[in-house]
Amino acid sequence: MNKRLSDRVMNIKPSATMSLNAKTKIIVKEGKGIINMSVGEPDLHPPLTASYAGIQAIVKGKTGYTPAAGLIELRESIVRYLLNERGLEYKPNQIIASAGGKQPLYNVFQAICDQDDEVILPSPYWVSYPEQIKLSGAVPVIVSCDETTNFKITPEKLAEVITPKTKAVVITSPNNPTGSVYSENELKALGNVLKDYSEIFIISDEIYDQFVYEGKHISLPLIFPELLNRTIITNGFSKVFAMTGWRLGYIAAPSDIAEAIASFQSHATGSPSTISQYAGISALNGFDKSMVEEYKKRRDILVDGLNQIEGIQCTKPNGAFYAFPNVSQFFGTMFEDQQIIDAETFCHLLLEKQHVSAVPGTAFGEPKNIRLNFAIPKDLITEALKRINNFTTQLAVKV
Ligand SMILES: Cc1ncc(COP(=O)(O)O)c(C=O)c1O
Repeated sequence: MNKRLSDRVMNIKPSATMSLNAKTKIIVKEGKGIINMSVGEPDLHPPLTASYAGIQAIVKGKTGYTPAAGLIELRESIVRYLLNERGLEYKPNQIIASAGGKQPLYNVFQAICDQDDEVILPSPYWVSYPEQIKLSGAVPVIVSCDETTNFKITPEKLAEVITPKTKAVVITSPNNPTGSVYSENELKALGNVLKDYSEIFIISDEIYDQFVYEGKHISLPLIFPELLNRTIITNGFSKVFAMTGWRLGYIAAPSDIAEAIASFQSHATGSPSTISQYAGISALNGFDKSMVEEYKKRRDILVDGLNQIEGIQCTKPNGAFYAFPNVSQFFGTMFEDQQIIDAETFCHLLLEKQHVSAVPGTAFGEPKNIRLNFAIPKDLITEALKRINNFTTQLAVKV
């Protein structure tokens, strides 16, 4: 039969948060004071200098095509950023600018994966990785990592899942949704496993790199320079520079991979927006480090508050801006005549009854937890804690 849609798109899972988003919109429309902790967005403004640079580009008519890989000035700025902030040496031809943090990752899977290759993906994971891996024809090999290792993959678990088909492993540090950050020793241990497999790529998603509250962010090749020729760093301006809608991100990769991605991108989308690229050059000079201290305070209020609520356990995230509490103790309980069977029903009822919006962990491969964004003002975090407590104290054991 002649199908209307390709197997490729039919194979993509719909977003696990779609019905929740629809419910959130209705409650917002009704004018009820919702506390939205479900979005993956910081409550900052982009650096003003970046916004002005964007405006200047428009006014001066610097709005034409750029090379598909991005403006050379932007790529040089990214090279300087990686050297100054990460201690990593790249050349501009190893940097490819793309739309947001998502497109660089999509490009990478397209560039390196063939049908039935395996990509190791520690879970909990950011929602789009499995679908992007599948779109490349590869198979996501999901490795479940729980609270006992702070949701991080151990060298033992990594070694266990490597097969002759393994093409890459994805490391996200700081992580979305868990906020976990790999320490130098943990990265060393993973590097020790990976150095023996010269065919395996390391995809290092560093989009939350500046949001680290204890210790510091480290890129794997800094510890293992011999892994540099098979490490692909992806990053973006959405989180650290609060430029979600500007859609700008990049990869830093070995030259042959960068070249292949530039060629692929030139046919798929071309460069990211020229205006955003000019804004990006300016943003790279202006990260406001004072926000890290502020987010740390907000994290402490939220996580300490959550752990005081009976039935909730929350490990302290060392980075990003998400808390990922375990709410599984409430599974099976009742809110009036409605039963909480999983994280999704928990989130739906929390939204309906207390107008706090959270994301069920199911979306990230961990059905026992929920994700709460703490990049919102402190008074709202305190109010959200009150509402979550109100909600959970009304949950009754089913009789
Ligand atoms: C870990 C991670 N990588 C990539 C992205 C994609 O970033 P963008 O929204 O800029 O496309 C996100 C966004 O939430 C993320 O959390």
